[in-house]
Amino acid sequence: PPPGALRGRRVVVTSGPTHESIDPVRYIANRSSGRQGHAIAAAAAAAGAEVVLVSGPVSIADPAGVAVVRVETAREMLSAVEAALPADLFVAAAAVADWRPTVAADLKIKKRDGAPDPVLALDRNPDILAAVAARREGRPRLVVGFAAETDRLLDHAADKLRRKGADVIVANDVGSGSGVMGGADNEVHLVSRGAAGAGGDARIEAWPKLGKDEVARRLVARFAA
Ligand code: C5P
Repeated sequence: PPPGALRGRRVVVTSGPTHESIDPVRYIANRSSGRQGHAIAAAAAAAGAEVVLVSGPVSIADPAGVAVVRVETAREMLSAVEAALPADLFVAAAAVADWRPTVAADLKIKKRDGAPDPVLALDRNPDILAAVAARREGRPRLVVGFAAETDRLLDHAADKLRRKGADVIVANDVGSGSGVMGGADNEVHLVSRGAAGAGGDARIEAWPKLGKDEVARRLVARFAA
């Protein structure tokens, strides 16, 4: 992006997985390194924005020049995002767990010979992207989500654009062999609302395979424009 392209703008980014407790030593989560979300936060800060990065548990370093809020669960992530708004741009790059165990046990669940194995009951987590996109007051000017899919990538992405009320979905194929999960590169499609708005056809743009840092810089340049 041109230097200062986002000066005076506020940007909120989610990144990483969420962890949903089963008991004090176990959790369910999605696979996510946080690399793409963190790179977007760093690129937005480099373009002059005031950036809040709401991050689930990751093992990578905090980006420079960014205020980082660390959370564990989807519900904590939603509260932290709401506290960080208003913003001009919201980018939901986190791999939020869609469900959490209905009950998180206070004590470690023990396995005992002859005892039945546990069955996990799950409750649905709030959808942070959809909640931000649906805000009547203080909706960010631009709301961006990701779609990590293993099949029918563009169909799912266009569907997500409509269902979640986002302006842009960055779609990436995370099927086996893509190397995207935890890797350094990403090959994305940009799926955005057509001229007719949410009801119209989505506009689709294919980008070449690039490093996640370069994908982040190009995304930020587009969002700034
Ligand atoms: O539905 P799915 O999880 O595939 O949607 C992905 C997009 O929605 C991502 O942008 C992700 O950050 C966001 N999301 C969210 N809250 C959820 C689930 C997904 O913000 N509970």
